[in-house]
Amino acid sequence: MKVLVVGGGGREHAIAWKLKQSPKVTHVYCAPGNAGTAEIATNVDIDPKNLGALAVWAAEHKIALTVVGPEAPLADGLADVFAEHGLKVFGPSKEAARLEYSKYFAKEVMLKAGVRTAEGACFTSAEEAKSYIKEKGAPIVVKADGLAAGKGVVVAETVEEALAAVDEMMVDQSMGDAGRTLVIEEKLQGKEASVMAIVDGETVLPMVVSQDYKRLLNDDAGPNTGGMGAVSPTSVLPDEKVAQMVEDIFIPVIRELWARGIRYTGFLYAGVMIDADGAVRVLEFNCRLGDPETQILMLRLQSDLFSALLAAVNGNLETVELKWTKDAAACVVASSRGYPKSVDDGKKIEGLFAPSERIVAFHAGTESGSEGEVVSKGGRILAVAALGSSVSAALDNAYANIKRISFDGMHYRTDIGRNN
Ligand code: AMP
Ligand code: GLY
Repeated sequence: MKVLVVGGGGREHAIAWKLKQSPKVTHVYCAPGNAGTAEIATNVDIDPKNLGALAVWAAEHKIALTVVGPEAPLADGLADVFAEHGLKVFGPSKEAARLEYSKYFAKEVMLKAGVRTAEGACFTSAEEAKSYIKEKGAPIVVKADGLAAGKGVVVAETVEEALAAVDEMMVDQSMGDAGRTLVIEEKLQGKEASVMAIVDGETVLPMVVSQDYKRLLNDDAGPNTGGMGAVSPTSVLPDEKVAQMVEDIFIPVIRELWARGIRYTGFLYAGVMIDADGAVRVLEFNCRLGDPETQILMLRLQSDLFSALLAAVNGNLETVELKWTKDAAACVVASSRGYPKSVDDGKKIEGLFAPSERIVAFHAGTESGSEGEVVSKGGRILAVAALGSSVSAALDNAYANIKRISFDGMHYRTDIGRNN
């Protein structure tokens, strides 16, 4: 059977790599893909924004299953358009994806479902938002309701900072419509973990837990990024606790959506904060897998991903069991000079090595140059992901291999997993 992966980042390279291992998959296509997916799949030059063209292409090429990587096409309604064309797609409908693209909606669903989250309120008036901030005091968190490419959250340490964030998001509309509505909530303390699951509307099949390192520089300094590295498992939230997460978070949310007439099919990602007492609260939901967490989850996954996702689309997820290696996995992301502020494209990448089952350099912002070389194109360029008998062995493996790769302006953190 032929599959299509939508997206062109490291997460999509990892998904394509895993889908290709299925004995049921005859060919993998990626739209638009990158230089890494070009080595294992066929890249299709269609912009994921162009939902109609993508659906027509998938129908013409008799694609048995489409798997969507990033949130934007899902928020645009890709799953709905594909369904109208009679195509099978693994990813939530536009309505269900609201869990990610409206923080207000997610908050409301969590409160109704009894899921623990930060206490907060929602505002469409800057004046009311500001008096709430003055009443509550700092620290306090100001969030734009809509999708803001990772820039919609300000964790303010002072009241002034929080008030300035309201002005920027709501009055100056620095992120357009995304900041028309704000969620303002208490600052949670603790450590973060990423919990992801495959959902078919009723059944929730959890994946192992991972931890992502979001800051650009060592010791969690520098600006927030999409993620500079990840490890799995993590001492922050051991894999054995995942069943509890399903019961306390995923099932109540899926049921609450169901009560509103919304069936959630797709990956569901809960970003959670674990406090010193071990209490778990949800920071956010994403309607997709994490990047770079996917790169390590795909290394740890021993089962056939394609069969699991097809079963979910067919509503048979309860028949599927996922097997994970006991080995740990870690990845380290290499970014380009200037990231996350700007990009420095067109740098030739040297030292890329052939992948094995235990070490893969997953491409993110790469493309093929005119002479067959691989060149950078974007902020996060690649992630070297590796297995090991422990998290520290996996990290040693990832670091030993990222050292083989180089490009002008290459940056990576040297302390991923150190606090694990
Ligand atoms: P979000 O997009 O909601 O996950 O926010 C991005 C990041 O902001 C999270 O990964 C946290 O590091 C931080 N954050 C969000 N909400 C809170 C909160 N209520 N308390 C503390 N940190 C938060
Ligand atoms: N690595 C965090 C995310 O994908 O949202």
